[in-house]
Amino acid sequence: MKADGDPNLIVYFDGRYMPLGEAKVGILTHALHYGTGVFEGIRAHWDEPSQELFVLRPVEHYARWKQNCGILRIDVPATPERLTAITLELMRRNGLRTNLYVRPIAFKSAERVGVAIDDQDSWAIIALPFGDYLHAENGLHAGVSSWRRIEDSAIPARAKICGAYVNSALASDEVRRSGFDEAIFLNQNGHVAEGATCNIFMVRKGKLVTPPVTDNVLEGITRDSIMELAHRELGLQVIERSIDRSELYISDELFLTGTAVGVAPIVRVDHRQIGDGAIGPIARHLNQIYFDATRGHLQAYRKWLVPVYCGHQPGQEEAKLVETSVA
Ligand SMILES: Cc1ncc(COP(=O)(O)O)c(C=O)c1O
Repeated sequence: MKADGDPNLIVYFDGRYMPLGEAKVGILTHALHYGTGVFEGIRAHWDEPSQELFVLRPVEHYARWKQNCGILRIDVPATPERLTAITLELMRRNGLRTNLYVRPIAFKSAERVGVAIDDQDSWAIIALPFGDYLHAENGLHAGVSSWRRIEDSAIPARAKICGAYVNSALASDEVRRSGFDEAIFLNQNGHVAEGATCNIFMVRKGKLVTPPVTDNVLEGITRDSIMELAHRELGLQVIERSIDRSELYISDELFLTGTAVGVAPIVRVDHRQIGDGAIGPIARHLNQIYFDATRGHLQAYRKWLVPVYCGHQPGQEEAKLVETSVA
């Protein structure tokens, strides 16, 4: 992701709203040295016809964040509902009316040298204007990285741990410098795991296949949404099983999913054409349904969306926050 923060943007840090330019951490902060933070990524989409901003599955994202923080023994005391309310308040205070990426981050904040973790935690939420992460209109050329996906027995891939993203950064850097658009990781068993920042799906013989959550992948919320859309809207059988590298080459379709990328079709892998080399019909269809669902155009999936501006009375959420404050 590349999104530069305006120093005047209001963010939430250390229990209060403040300009981004004032939200600073010290040079000795534990997480800076040892990667001991856990982050999240949440999307909000601006829908021009309804003049509404829809936050996508924020309660699920915050529930996952809190669970993942538990893996590193980081305590975020607020509930997912309260975190959602803070997020909406940030968008309103900043008057944001465009596509956004929300970055919650919690980290070990003690300012001292020494890797052992203690109980000093800090957390922040930042909502940034953010367009497309990958330009996948014509399909991507993905490359399998020589870096393997981290094992759960070393650093859990499911936890969105800051330090673990060195693995993604190395893979991304490697394949981009070799001319590919995005990296695909194999795990230590040689099975396909996921992209550097996204999950992967393959279409073979009319079925949708994706690696199981025990193959060292992030348990993607977009992955979950796509599995539901594929099953309910396209009547597809969705199978979670390990995928071999060579299966990618002979697949009918491939695509990536994630909060930042949405649904991103792949048309070539390692210089091999996938299918007929054009974006496949299932990827195209899922991309369209996902777009409509995330902009509030499909009633059945309004359950995933929290509108930011609709019916909001100024100060309303803040009053509720004070009442329910647990921090
Ligand atoms: C390594 C990795 N895999 C998969 C995903 C996709 O997960 P989600 O759909 O929850 O954004 C992400 C992005 O969050 C990621 O960083």
